[in-house]
Formats: sequence, structure tokens, C-alpha cells
Amino acid sequence: MKHVLFIATIALCLSCKESIKQSPVAPTLPINGLITQNAMVVSAREEASKIGSDIMESGGNAFDAMVATELALAVTYPYAGNLGGGGFMVYRTQYGEIGALDYREKAPMASKKDMYLDENGTYIQEKSKIGGLAVGVPGTIAGIFAVHEKLGSLPIEELIQPVIELANRGYVITPQQADRFIEYGPIFEQVNGEPSLYTQPHKAGDTIKNIALANTLSRISSEGRSEFYNGETGKKLVAFLQSKNGIITLEDLNAYEAEWREPIVFDYKDLRIISMSPPSSGGICLAQILKSIAPYPLKEYGHNSVKAIQVITEAERRAYADRSHYLGDPDYVEIPVDTLISDQYLKGRMDDFSFDKATPSSSVSFGTIQGYESTETTHYSIIDQFGNAIAVTTTLNAAFGSKLYSKDLGFFLNNEMDDFSAKPGEPNMFGLIGGEANAIAPHKRMLSSMTPTLVEKDGKLWMSVGTPGGSTIITSVLQTILNVYEYDMNIQEAVNAPRFHHQWLPDTVLFEPNSFPKETIDTLLQKGYTPDLENAPVIGKVDGILVLPNGNLEGGADKRGDDTAIGF
Ligand code: DON
Repeated sequence: MKHVLFIATIALCLSCKESIKQSPVAPTLPINGLITQNAMVVSAREEASKIGSDIMESGGNAFDAMVATELALAVTYPYAGNLGGGGFMVYRTQYGEIGALDYREKAPMASKKDMYLDENGTYIQEKSKIGGLAVGVPGTIAGIFAVHEKLGSLPIEELIQPVIELANRGYVITPQQADRFIEYGPIFEQVNGEPSLYTQPHKAGDTIKNIALANTLSRISSEGRSEFYNGETGKKLVAFLQSKNGIITLEDLNAYEAEWREPIVFDYKDLRIISMSPPSSGGICLAQILKSIAPYPLKEYGHNSVKAIQVITEAERRAYADRSHYLGDPDYVEIPVDTLISDQYLKGRMDDFSFDKATPSSSVSFGTIQGYESTETTHYSIIDQFGNAIAVTTTLNAAFGSKLYSKDLGFFLNNEMDDFSAKPGEPNMFGLIGGEANAIAPHKRMLSSMTPTLVEKDGKLWMSVGTPGGSTIITSVLQTILNVYEYDMNIQEAVNAPRFHHQWLPDTVLFEPNSFPKETIDTLLQKGYTPDLENAPVIGKVDGILVLPNGNLEGGADKRGDDTAIGF
């Protein structure tokens, strides 16, 4: 019986719906976001936004606030905030300099291309999703230290101290969080083989103190980055993972480096968009979709009209087909970035699109490129009083990652290895199909969809935006930008607006339920689209900041979650 229950709960963990299974869209959403004059943080938790905002109010910049906000999310939002995961940051300084940081996890040295296949070549799903073998080498601590070293202004101890105090003092859990702990607590106990802080039944309003995490953060604050990758914390982490069938060694931790990357930069009409480059597919896919739809008068078609949905869906179909073939870790595969986002190539990709009928995904493959030889998450946006802006998306992959929780260290470990293509043609937990470019190799980074994005208008900073949501991240960011730019919404309305999503395979269009008129869905059905109104109660949890014409900042915090804007 116990065995059956275990299989059943593991099956629940493995459901591709899991990571997008959240409460339905709140019935009444705020129409106007917070407006401040100087600085703002919008993140998944009020305490994290507050800590970041306080750091700026006491003279720190957006990069200082990033360090504190990232760590505060690890304390208050263990669903996705993390020390045991990784992420991406895109930045634009007050002087207009732009850049991107990749602190994505890496495959351990002992990983192998076929490590999730059995002797018959069958993909064993749970191995890349649950427990020690699913864990990639974490990048978050390397990420915050890299940001601080290059762009921070206050001593790092001053940035970590309020987070240590928060972990010791505790945070009050929200109704949404309480539901998650009730849902996942038994799974944590089964996967870890023992009870822990997060297996206890917590109710909304309870305070959770994470003393183990406070102690880990204290050691990192006093010993620095090496504490995580080579010190007591690193050694404890390796011992814990190895006791859970993991293969990460101290050498793997030692070898980990965050990488500064050139962001993907492109124009959409008079906007200049700066987004994440590989190993995230976010920037390239966003560029492909926006440039493919640019020739069509979306505003004239109307927001979420049949024609607008068709154009966007067809552009998404083609972009996600390219994603699966061409994109992977740029340190391992050659990616024809310039061609993939060129006007000429994208025009050719849309040539066979007709408003009369859906293009079946079975007839769409990746595009042909001449001479090419060869690739649960959370987002926060910060703008400071100096004009520096960042967009950061960080993740453990699925909700609570691999479900492995180190009681001693106080944090969950990612299951980012599932973002690799375990076997060509086999979908990962987001239904994404991958190819050779995203095959597993030692120390390689797995392909991501995370799309932290900054937008300039008329040469000035205009927006910071991003979201969780696995494969739906790219299309949620896309719709938020379009909602403000094409449909004149304020950023809170743009975040609230119902979303849809298509990703080539499966050949269905996901819609947030109860949000699209029946006639729209019926017309799309008649044209050969396959609407799916059941599998995504919500799509994305977008957080963003818009710079208003008078220089004030307007926050868009997604009330599909507990997301909150705070500033001054
Ligand atoms: O990097 C990626 O694309 C995924 N690991 C993101 C996971 C995610 O957004 C889950 N949240 N809903």
C-alpha cells in the first residue's frame, strides 16, 4: 500500500501540469499598480520586495538590492526562491550600459548523455525530476557574488544581514503557500525519508523560522562565496547529495563559475528590447516571435481577438520549433543567433501562414539555415533611484525542485537536469522536445526558457519584466509587452490580462480558463486550432515595472500569486 502511495505521489510530482498548477486567476484584480518616484522592487513576496527597497532607500543601488532580494526569496518563497538553484539577470545601468549574467546550474562531471535511460533506451522520467540524480550544480551564490563584485556598492555583509534576521525572525505564510505545503509536505517526507521543517502541517498565518538557513547565510556572509563552493556548506551539501544517490562532487562545486554574457538585443518598432541570451532560449524566441508579428497590425485586430491570437500562435509555433533544434549551451554548441533573429529569415518562416487555417505543427520543422554547420521559478524586477534597472528570473525548476531538502543547510535542491533533452523526441516536464544541441554533457548548462527582459523606448529605460512558468515564460513576457505597447494598458492591467500560449508541440493552444469568449474559442476550433482550456489554471506570474513619461515608476505585481510591489 505504502509503495502504491509512493508511486502515486511521484506520478503527481511528474505531471507536466505540476509546475503550472496554481490557483485560478483572482476574481478581482487591482487595476492600478503602485506608483513611486524613486525606486521599486516587484517580486513574489512582500518581505523580499521590502528588503530590496529598504537597501535602496538606505543608499544602495539596484544590484545591492538584487543580492538581498534573491536571498530573501530563498527564505520566504522556498517554492522557487533558492540557494540550491540558479538563474539569469539582465541589467542596464544608469549610463545605458547593458549586460547579462548567467548563473544557471551545470551538469555534474559524472553526468552522461543517456543517464536517464534504462538498458533498453527507455527514458525513466522520475530520474531527471526527483531526488539526487536530478540536481544540477547550483549557481545562485556564485551569481549574487558576481553581481556584487562587478556592480554592487555596499558591503555584502550589510546586504545579507537583513535576510539572516528575516530567516531567524520568520515569515508569515500566505493561504497560497499553506495550500502548497499541505500538498507537497507528504512528498517531501517520502523523497527525503524523514520529516523536516516543510513536512509539518502549516496553516495560513503561521510563522516559519528557518534557523538552519539563517546559519548557512551567516557562514556565507562571513566566509564569502567559497563557503558554498568549497567550505563547510559545500562539503555538507556534497555529503547530503551523495547520500541521496546524487553525483555532484566537491570538484563540481569548485569548478562552478557564473558567466557574464552578451544579452540578445533587437528592435520591435520603436522599442529596443534587451533580453537573456543562451543558455536561455528566452531572448532569441522573444525576438523571433516579436519580429515575426511586427508586420501585422495587431492593434487594429484588437487585444486577444481571433486574428491577433492566430498571428501570435503561428509565430510561436515556428519559434519553438527552432528552439528545439538550434538552442543549447553556447559553450558547447554553435548557435546561428544573427540568422535566427534576422528579418529575412523570419519573413520566410511566416510565408506559409494563412488566416484561413492553422498550420499543423506536424508540417512545421526548424527553419533551414544556409551554411550553418553545426542549440518553479520566480521573477523580480528592480529599478533604483539612480536609474539602474535589472530583471532577474531564478528557479529550482519544478515546484521545490527535486524535492530534496537539506535540513542541515535549510534549503531545497533544484531538478534542473530535466531541462536537458534526456532523449531526442521525449518531452520534458513542460512538454518541450529537445534535440542534440541540448543533450546532456559534463559541466554543460541545460537550455532554459527564462526571459528576464528590459525594454528601452526613445533611448530611455521603459520597462523591466519577466515571469516564471516554464515554457510559457517567453509567451507571457511577449503578451505583457504587447499589452502595454500595442493595447495601451497600464502595466498592472497588462499583467492581469488573460494569457494564452502555444509552443509548437504539443499542437494545442493553452488558454487561461473563463477568460476568453466562447466565440473566440469556437472560431479558432473551426480554423483547425486545438484550444486547451483545462491544463493551465494560470499562465505565468508576471512582475514588471514601467517607467512613466514623468519618470515615476509604475509596478505590475501578478495577483495570480502573492506578488507585491514596494518602493519609495
Ligand atoms: O529554465 C527553465 O526554463 C525552467 N527551468 C523554468 C521553470 C519554471 O519556470 C517553473 N515555473 N513555473
